[in-house]
Amino acid sequence: MRAGRGVLWGPDLLAVLAPYLEKKSAFLRSIYSMSANCLLDGSIDIYKECHPVGAVAVLGAGITAHVPVLKAEVIEAFSPTRATNFLDATIGGGGHARAILNAFQGANVWGMDRDPSAIKRASESLPPNRVHLRNDNFSRLDCLPAKAFDGILFDFGLSSDQLDTPERGFSFRSDGPLDMRMDPTQGISAAQFLSSASREMLVQAIRDFGEEPNWRRVVSAIWNARGTNRLSRTSIFAELVRNALPKHYQGKIDPATRTFQGIRIAVNGELEAIQIAFPKALAALAPGGVMAAISFHSLEDRLVKRFFRQWAGLPETRWDGRSKDERQSAGKMHTVRPITPSADEILANPRCRSAKLRIFQKWEARL
Ligand SMILES: C[S@@+](CC[C@H](N)C(=O)[O-])C[C@H]1O[C@@H](n2cnc3c(N)ncnc32)[C@H](O)[C@@H]1O
Repeated sequence: MRAGRGVLWGPDLLAVLAPYLEKKSAFLRSIYSMSANCLLDGSIDIYKECHPVGAVAVLGAGITAHVPVLKAEVIEAFSPTRATNFLDATIGGGGHARAILNAFQGANVWGMDRDPSAIKRASESLPPNRVHLRNDNFSRLDCLPAKAFDGILFDFGLSSDQLDTPERGFSFRSDGPLDMRMDPTQGISAAQFLSSASREMLVQAIRDFGEEPNWRRVVSAIWNARGTNRLSRTSIFAELVRNALPKHYQGKIDPATRTFQGIRIAVNGELEAIQIAFPKALAALAPGGVMAAISFHSLEDRLVKRFFRQWAGLPETRWDGRSKDERQSAGKMHTVRPITPSADEILANPRCRSAKLRIFQKWEARL
């Protein structure tokens, strides 16, 4: 049991929650139990909106609000390997890394994240004798002193710690500066991007990265808002996007969702980072090593699928007309179709609903 600063932990917390668990719906029960179980290994708070009596505050050092997605499936993916030397290219809240350390006794994890606060949090909660952390973009993974990884994990996108901190500017659900940088010390903020990008760059962000069908309206609204204060805060900008879209444009998601996603991908160069990192990751994989990648939208998943198919010597797309002899294979795909979260996992953690896990294993002997 960990001691927090005036907060309840582990078994003490479970004792407080027990009477409430009896009365709650299945949905809330699953969230309470999951969070409390995670708390037992010191990794997660009880979400503010879920906790019953306000008895628990999230104040402890190294505590993350992020729930690792498809955790059991990731561990299962790595089980055929010798499993001693891992790279977690997106350490985030450290949930997957912790699961790897628990599952593979004697394993070491190299952890990367471009977000300095993720690295700080991970350094406070993961054992320093088994985890080596590097604050860097995974596109530079070849700069790590370690090589020949038995397992490499990419878990793309944002952590809940980033999404739920209004000052980071990722979410339109709360007001904050329109920043969106995973590494706030590098590059330009989303507000600066919107004020300075060429029209072509805006189109690429909203149409190509955001996959927004009404991209023309959104781009024009951004263009016309330049020089005003409407591009500087998440809530005002989200309203500008909603107003730009047709009134009947009501789906299950907030109309600003696609635009926010597109701008975030552009500001952080997210697809470019994957394109640079993947060939380096294949080179850094030990013979027999396994690479697992979790993506959260179709652009990421398409990239992962293409790389894995190429490495497995399969046609990359349906238009790939090369003969079998022209395609070389470096290993095999373990997943023809991606692994997705179960209904129970989605119920407990709705943010995982679009996750797709793909797995590739390098041949034992180099060809
Ligand atoms: C979904 S979270 C990872 C959560 C983690 N697997 C866990 O269990 O807590 C994604 C993390 O990847 C980081 N990230 C995204 N793109 C990155 C990149 N190109 N290089 C390094 N880190 C990146 C983000 O800053 C974020 O912390």
